[in-house]
Amino acid sequence: MPRAAVVYRKDQPMKIEEISLRPVGEHEVLVQIAACGVCHSDLSALNEFFACPTPVILGHEAAGIVQSVGSAVSAFAPGDAVLAAWSPACGHCRFCKRGRPQLCNLADDPGSRANDRVSAGGQTVTQFLGVGGFCEQTILADNALVKIDPTMPLDRAALLGCAVITGYGAVRYAAQVRAGDEVGVFGCGGIGLNIIQGARLQGASLIVAIDLDDTKLEMARRIGATHTLRGDAPDLHKTLRGMTRERAGLDFAFDAVGSVEIARVGFLAIAKGGEVILVGLAHQKDKLSISQIAAVTQEKVVRGTTNGSTDTWKTVPELIRLYQDHKLMLDELVSRTYALDDVNQAMDDLRSGRNARGVVVMG
Ligand SMILES: NC(=O)c1ccc[n+]([C@@H]2O[C@H](COP(=O)([O-])OP(=O)(O)OC[C@H]3O[C@@H](n4cnc5c(N)ncnc54)[C@H](O)[C@@H]3O)[C@@H](O)[C@H]2O)c1
Ligand SMILES: [Zn+2]
Ligand SMILES: [Zn+2]
Repeated sequence: MPRAAVVYRKDQPMKIEEISLRPVGEHEVLVQIAACGVCHSDLSALNEFFACPTPVILGHEAAGIVQSVGSAVSAFAPGDAVLAAWSPACGHCRFCKRGRPQLCNLADDPGSRANDRVSAGGQTVTQFLGVGGFCEQTILADNALVKIDPTMPLDRAALLGCAVITGYGAVRYAAQVRAGDEVGVFGCGGIGLNIIQGARLQGASLIVAIDLDDTKLEMARRIGATHTLRGDAPDLHKTLRGMTRERAGLDFAFDAVGSVEIARVGFLAIAKGGEVILVGLAHQKDKLSISQIAAVTQEKVVRGTTNGSTDTWKTVPELIRLYQDHKLMLDELVSRTYALDDVNQAMDDLRSGRNARGVVVMG
């Protein structure tokens, strides 16, 4: 029987144990998981940021190999290399039809959308974000899977599923950063580093990385930041404005931490016509307060983005090409790999900010 890391209580470590999978449904695929990255959203699920019932299997940045497919599945066959898409697309709701599959109705209720496929010890177990990738084998919906180039190393490909698509997409598709733009990026974890490399790929002329951790700031430099600042420095918005052309302010400030205070500083740091791009998840109770009059008279925008505002099925092949052309840095993002048995260590290391990305590699 395959094994998985199951959360029974959010204040206790995950238990590594055998799971049972029910038979694969018509539109489902059985996948042998090869690797699954560890994202801050997995931690947030434990901190009640998401309404996420237990027991649950976390992990939503997963790549693997198809073992078998349901009777109505035509897009996948055994042996295919696949990436899980935590933002599924039905293809026919009003959002999918209008080219915004990241808002597909299927993506609502992210904490508990898949809760009848896996069980452990006689209880059904939810797959977090429809994926639940901290496991050796699982069942995924065919509309939540992307076929990928079989030559891609799967422990690298996994990162495309959340950190890279979210960060790169936030720059290219949500903000639509252009060559010469000036940007600030708050938070240089897996998401922020990919915002930075997205900004480099789009030709931004000023990329200021902001973090509380000096090691993260060094990583930010290596991946494309032109300048770095400590997040605890006083008057950050003034310093940021002072770094821009004519001291006018940033074109874009990205919050890759998830803090209303950072969003507020970003709003003060952007130029007229600038945008604050909210990527990080603040607590459900947090409310953002900004100057309405500045938003109106200075045409400042606050924009949220989920899944990098991308169509996963178009963007993943684009990202793979960029990696193969040595433009997208993925190898550098994997600070450490962990065995499934060490998944709790991987979560602790994320909590303490030790990794750009930690990746759990199944045995
Ligand atoms: N919008 C989306 O679709 C989406 C997708 C994935 C993740 N997320 C969210 O993005 C956020 C980042 O995720 P991650 O996996 O990169 O997390 P991470 O823990 O790897 O990185 C967060 C970084 O922020 C830094 N930081 C913390 N407080 C700071 C402050 N006050 N100022 C500056 N830097 C600070 C930390 O040192 C760390 O380097 C999380 O909130 C996550 O839930 C959103
Ligand atoms: Zn994530
Ligand atoms: Zn849809």
